[in-house]
Amino acid sequence: MNLTTKYLGLTLENPLVVGASPFCDNTAVARQLQDAGASAIVMRSLFEEQIDAEQRALVYHVETSAESNAEATSYFPTFTEYQLTPDHYLRQIEHLKKSLTIPVIASLNGCRPGGWTDYAQRFQSAGADAIELNLYQLVSDPAVAGDQIEADMLETVGSVVRAVTIPVAVKLSPFHTSPANFVAELENVGAKGVVVFNRFYQPDFNIEDLEVQPQLRLSDSTELLLRLRWLAILAPSVRGSLAASGGAHTTEDIVKALLAGAHAVQLVSVLLRHGPRILSTLLVGLKDWLTERGYENIDQLRGALDLRHCPDPAAFERANYIRILQSWRV
Ligand SMILES: Cc1cc2nc3c(=O)[nH]c(=O)nc-3n(C[C@H](O)[C@H](O)[C@H](O)COP(=O)(O)O)c2cc1C
Repeated sequence: MNLTTKYLGLTLENPLVVGASPFCDNTAVARQLQDAGASAIVMRSLFEEQIDAEQRALVYHVETSAESNAEATSYFPTFTEYQLTPDHYLRQIEHLKKSLTIPVIASLNGCRPGGWTDYAQRFQSAGADAIELNLYQLVSDPAVAGDQIEADMLETVGSVVRAVTIPVAVKLSPFHTSPANFVAELENVGAKGVVVFNRFYQPDFNIEDLEVQPQLRLSDSTELLLRLRWLAILAPSVRGSLAASGGAHTTEDIVKALLAGAHAVQLVSVLLRHGPRILSTLLVGLKDWLTERGYENIDQLRGALDLRHCPDPAAFERANYIRILQSWRV
């Protein structure tokens, strides 16, 4: 059974990619993931705010000749809260590249154009095989219109793309008004793929203490449905690669993401819950599923349920929506 897939121009042995997460902070754990069958890994993100803070700290220290170790100072208390400093991050790319044979994808996280995008070039010099740019942003200012946000994002993506020769993927939010149009614009500025989607961590309310409670809940398979819809809509028009991220937990989930048009399926929650060895179980499950149905490779399956053959996807969706609501009787 041939599970090979092309993602961002990289040839991967299978579609199972470890999504951006803390796993790659530890090279030994990254090795376990590779040994269990991961075909590529995405490192946790280095954040725009973190890079900006370091650059400000450097200027401060040059001007004042204070301590040389910016992270150790108390001027930027949040600095130490990050798991990897920018320097540490670059060294970790080098360590991972020395220890692994699978591609290492470094992750930048930010959305406003600025000097922080220079880090893309440093990622490449440290050996990263590709960059995933996470455009996570929660816009709460009523004075800022959606098209301004998207223009800034496109400028940011363009500057990252221009800084490197390795492929750049963009991890998207599901909340764009017209995702298919925005993805086309991303490809026009040089993105080689999109990751569908970012997962927003939604705080809850504690109604006894009247406090907001930030929380991180791992996903379950229900979250895949939003990804399936948009992968199926995007697949016919996207020129580059598509990765699913969010809610892939079982062999069936992986098959569904491939049917919707994904070239790669990123996994995080399932690995945090069950550990690296679940990867080999999922891979065996995928091979069995394909073999039992007579497939020889995953290209034969990919996109079979995308909306290529649907002349008007918007009307199709709207009709299904109306039919579902009308089907309930009390
Ligand atoms: C503990 C944890 C850390 C994460 N860190 C990052 C990160 O640094 N950058 C990023 O783009 N996504 C990050 N994510 C999001 C995941 O890459 C992924 O998009 C999300 O968890 C949905 O996939 P899943 O359903 O397989 O968990 C993180 C997720 C978790 C649970």
